[in-house]
Amino acid sequence: MEKPEVKYLKDYRPPAYWIDNTELNFDLQETNTLVKSVLNIRRNNDLSDKTIPLVLDGKNLELLFVKIDKKHLDSDKYQINSENLTIYDVPESFSLEVTTKIQPQNNTSLEGLYKAGGIFCTQCEAEGFRKITYFPDRPDVMSKYSCTITADREKYPILLSNGNLINSGMTDQNRHWAQWEDPFKKPSYLFALVAGDLVYIEDFYKTKSGRSVTLRIYVEHMNIDKCGHAMQSLKKAMKWDEDVFGLEYDLDIYMIVAVNDFNMGAMENKGLNIFNSKYVLAKPETATDIDFWNIERVIAHEYFHNWTGNRVTLKNWFQLSLKEGLTVFRDQEFSSDMTSRPVKRISDVRSLRSFQFPEDAGPMAHPVRPESYIEMDNFYTMTVYEKGAEIIRMIHRILGKQGFRKGMNLYFKRHDGQAVTTEDFVKAMEDANQADLRQFRLWYSQAGTPEISVKRAYNHKNKTYSMTFTQKCPPSPGMSEKKAMHIPVAVGLLDKAGNDMPLQLAGQDKPEGTTILLNLYKTTQTFEFVNVYEPPVPSILRGFSAPVKLRAEYTSREQAFLLANDSDEFHRWDSGQRFFAGTMINMVQGKIKNHDPDVLGAIIEPFRKTLLSTELDKAFISHVLTLPSESELGILISETAPIDPELIHQVRRFITHAIAKALKNDFERIYQDNQEKGLYNIDAESIARRSLKNLALSYLGMLETPEIIKIACNQFNKAENMTDEIAALGVLSHIQCSEREKAIDDFYQKWKSDTLVLDKWFAIQAGSQIPGIIDKIKELLNHPDFSIKNPNKVRALVSSFCGMNPWQFHHISGNGYKFMTDRILELNAINPQIAARMAGIFNHWKKYEPSRQKLMKAELEKIINTPDISRHVYEIVSKALV
Ligand code: TRP
Ligand code: ZN
Repeated sequence: MEKPEVKYLKDYRPPAYWIDNTELNFDLQETNTLVKSVLNIRRNNDLSDKTIPLVLDGKNLELLFVKIDKKHLDSDKYQINSENLTIYDVPESFSLEVTTKIQPQNNTSLEGLYKAGGIFCTQCEAEGFRKITYFPDRPDVMSKYSCTITADREKYPILLSNGNLINSGMTDQNRHWAQWEDPFKKPSYLFALVAGDLVYIEDFYKTKSGRSVTLRIYVEHMNIDKCGHAMQSLKKAMKWDEDVFGLEYDLDIYMIVAVNDFNMGAMENKGLNIFNSKYVLAKPETATDIDFWNIERVIAHEYFHNWTGNRVTLKNWFQLSLKEGLTVFRDQEFSSDMTSRPVKRISDVRSLRSFQFPEDAGPMAHPVRPESYIEMDNFYTMTVYEKGAEIIRMIHRILGKQGFRKGMNLYFKRHDGQAVTTEDFVKAMEDANQADLRQFRLWYSQAGTPEISVKRAYNHKNKTYSMTFTQKCPPSPGMSEKKAMHIPVAVGLLDKAGNDMPLQLAGQDKPEGTTILLNLYKTTQTFEFVNVYEPPVPSILRGFSAPVKLRAEYTSREQAFLLANDSDEFHRWDSGQRFFAGTMINMVQGKIKNHDPDVLGAIIEPFRKTLLSTELDKAFISHVLTLPSESELGILISETAPIDPELIHQVRRFITHAIAKALKNDFERIYQDNQEKGLYNIDAESIARRSLKNLALSYLGMLETPEIIKIACNQFNKAENMTDEIAALGVLSHIQCSEREKAIDDFYQKWKSDTLVLDKWFAIQAGSQIPGIIDKIKELLNHPDFSIKNPNKVRALVSSFCGMNPWQFHHISGNGYKFMTDRILELNAINPQIAARMAGIFNHWKKYEPSRQKLMKAELEKIINTPDISRHVYEIVSKALV
């Protein structure tokens, strides 16, 4: 194939034309949809060259007419190719009318205007608007939109677009129309349209200035009883943003639409969010506790975008983290306030390390503000979102809560209504606080995860304690030399009894608290504490104050001590994980033998202590006792040796089995003590109780005894909520027995009409640890309820297999790899965005032992040598092969 064009940040130029007004007209039909647009265009007079032609983006469009100032334009006055419409010689200001024809019903990419499950809807971010009509499809062109939709009244009774409903009526007996107008200027990626047979629930929110906002959630008829939680979440988010940031909603109506076919989680279109139904629909019978939390988080995320993303938007797509990093930070803070702060932090860091760290060490490594891309869709990454949020969190920590709020206020005061950059954000933070973040900015431009090592020394005579930090950042693609970064490291010191010591740095006249923020600026830097009455055990990187890899060289005794005593819950959990991981890694590497009784004792004692603790929060206990997964162990091992997934699987299985056997009675007691009492509830305490109970059940499941099978079946049959039902099915899914098959069948019969619950059914089977499960998965590809066109189904069956079953996916036969290549190539033609996400599974091939490396490389070569490979897949695979 021809090498696709690479876009560079350094090539950014302001637009040559502005679009003040955009009037859209959709005639939605079953075979052809007509889109008429009338644009008020004005030359950008800041540019000295007044002869630049008007170049509009457009893809897969059939152009019917072009008019300038109402006069037809002859075809020799413009040019079209597969990407653009170019008009030479245009006046300084004029109106342009363009009519195009599209086929939403054949659009399986789920980008632009598409029809799925009988509903017309749009997804324009990042560059999907160009699949609807010709337009300068870039976020720095902001325009006022009005949108008229005409459609069949019976099939599409609901017609929605951004902003306020201005007018509506009938065109004839069968067709009706609605006209919407959005008073706020916006970039094209925030445009939205929905037409379908939907119903809604309605509520109201009174803003702090006293305005009443109508809130509506639109869903398919059968889901009307599953909207309550999403509505409550929305109201909580609106209140929280007023309380914490003083930010109020700005339109009179806020609409959310749930659709089943959606590439990502949800989309923040102005006044009309479109959601993957997975992040809207919930009732206790169908949604797990985690689902309930995710809905609250995603609803809040999209709502928060109204200020961070919509009111203040992006100058270009390289600035994506300006809205995403900041909005993730905001949703994390919101969830922390709604649930449990330490538990939220633990799960966020766990996923950062599992997905972002590997990305930052692999072929797709890129700075939070990327320098270049082939396909923007490939840059909706863990780095832009999660590492981006970590950058904001560091600024928050460095400036303090009030300093951060001052910075936010200045950011909105300066930039409301504008399209800006991450630089503008940092500048506002600096100016509002007279702070110096010059070196800190490297976090936006340098890829790779910095590594910090620590040398510590206690001086008995002087009662001083010194810590010497050394930082380095490994090379990443196109960037071999890295500069020292500004890294904030929160530190505490524990005395022998496990208590926090008061902290006093040399030069300070008195101690200042028990956690101190040390700012690293240089490659090597020493800090000295005074009046340290005995040799301490340091607690380093409390709260995960920076997204770095810490090499603290703790002994396992210190780790067990920190697990038992650290007052910082994050670090306490982290110490436990390092301790458990360290032992398993030593076993994988043959440094200790499986049957060494001391080893098991060393793991089981702290495990038991935590399990039986009455003072610790149950959610926290569940996190501590969830051992590092096979993938997490692989990531840790890959820092020093090649990964052998088979060996890792055996060791982890051995350890979990040994724990289950040794603590059987304790697990049984925990299981009994934490049964549901009274009514089902989704408050944090009940959720924590269920998670501990189900953790106990999953350890017991390792024993595979008839007694355990009976307990699991009993829970499965009696469960009145999905959390318990799916937990029990999960346990059974790994055990080869007739009860397993029956439970899987029963579950299907019970839930076959609920597509979201069926996703769980597919995922459970894909994650099953029974050998040879890949054959079952292949069979399920042909199940009538599976569809390769539905991203949720693909994620449930295909991605879960790779993610939850690394051992079988990496089977030495190479069958798992071949299976993936087939899916990637199949999806390449249907939905390139999803195909590219799947292709990322081979990104880390170089980290594996030689035979698997060879097999994966062959798959990558097969993919790249396939004709008609999409730009999306090409970008991922070509980078992986470098
Ligand atoms: N802006 C969306 C969010 O993070 C992301 C998104 C939704 C998206 N749909 C997409 C990105 C499709 C790329 C393609 O909230
Ligand atoms: Zn977002």
